[in-house]
Order: sequence, then structure tokens, then C-alpha cells
Amino acid sequence: MNDSRVSVVDEILRLFKGRGDSAYGREAASQREHALQAAHLAREAGSPPTLVVATLLHDVGHMLHDLPDDAPDHGVDDRHEELAARFGPDVAKPARLHVQAKRFLCADEPGYLDRLSEPSRISMRLQGGPMSPEEAERFRSSPHAAAALVLRRCDDSAKSPGLVVPGVEDYIPWIERALIRS
Ligand SMILES: [Fe+2]
Repeated sequence: MNDSRVSVVDEILRLFKGRGDSAYGREAASQREHALQAAHLAREAGSPPTLVVATLLHDVGHMLHDLPDDAPDHGVDDRHEELAARFGPDVAKPARLHVQAKRFLCADEPGYLDRLSEPSRISMRLQGGPMSPEEAERFRSSPHAAAALVLRRCDDSAKSPGLVVPGVEDYIPWIERALIRS
């Protein structure tokens, strides 16, 4: 394995160990719990390694930046997909589209908005609200839309404090495979 791959894996492990205990917005689960539960759901759904890693890292900027835990309430929509840029588009794009996927589903799926957690509804307003028909059409035409929607469903269902799922070390081979493909 080359040095840059080692450093990406190390960086991810360090993030999860060092700052994963921080709150996930106003959700009851921590950042680490949220990310690991989401990745576990993606894995259980039979997703490819790139999508599992995208799901694991989709919120990683929440750990990278020292924003207040209730940032969305204060009008700050942090851009939380930076580390995903170290991978190829099959990782980076679905991660980057996860907010747009929420906006799409709010416009396209009856009842979706009502099922979101309250913090997610608050941040959605800051993120632009439900998509317009034109925005939804553009989103649909993205080659990464389907993966982003899978990621989004995992994201929405990964907010259970205390739920035991595999740790971040379990994902090292998945991370390495995702990097090799990029
Ligand atoms: Fe998330």
C-alpha cells in the first residue's frame, strides 16, 4: 500500500477516535454513532465499497470543523464533504449530493418531510427547502442520484443512540478498496 493510502486511512481513524464523540447536530446519537450506523446500513443493503465509504464519510466535515453542535439553528450550513474528495467520484459525488437528495425526497416523496427528525427539518430549510420541479429533474439526471438516495436513506435511519454496530476499523479494507478504484 502506498503512503498516501496509509495517510488517508490514518486520518479517518484519527477523526473517528479523536472527535467522533461530538454531537451530531441536535440528534441524540454522536457523530461516530451516526456515521457507523449509516455505513452499517449501507453495507447490509449490499452496497458497493465506494458507496459504503461514501456513507461512512458523508458527514465527516462535522468532525473536521469546530462548528457549534447546533450550527444549523444558527444559520450555518457547514459544508461537510471535504475528505470525500480524496476518493474518486463514486465516493465523493454521492456524499456531496446527500443534502440535495434530502431536498429531492422532500419534493418527490409524499410523507418524507414529515418523517425527518426535527433537526433535519430545520437544517433542510437552511439548505434551500424542497427542490423545485426543475431542480428535481436535474438531480434525477445525475449519474450519482441513485447512490445518493441510498446514502440518504441510510443517513436518515442512523440516529439511534447506543445501538451497537461494527467499529471504524472494520471499514479499513472497504476504504482501501474505494481508494484503489479512484
Ligand atoms: Fe448524516
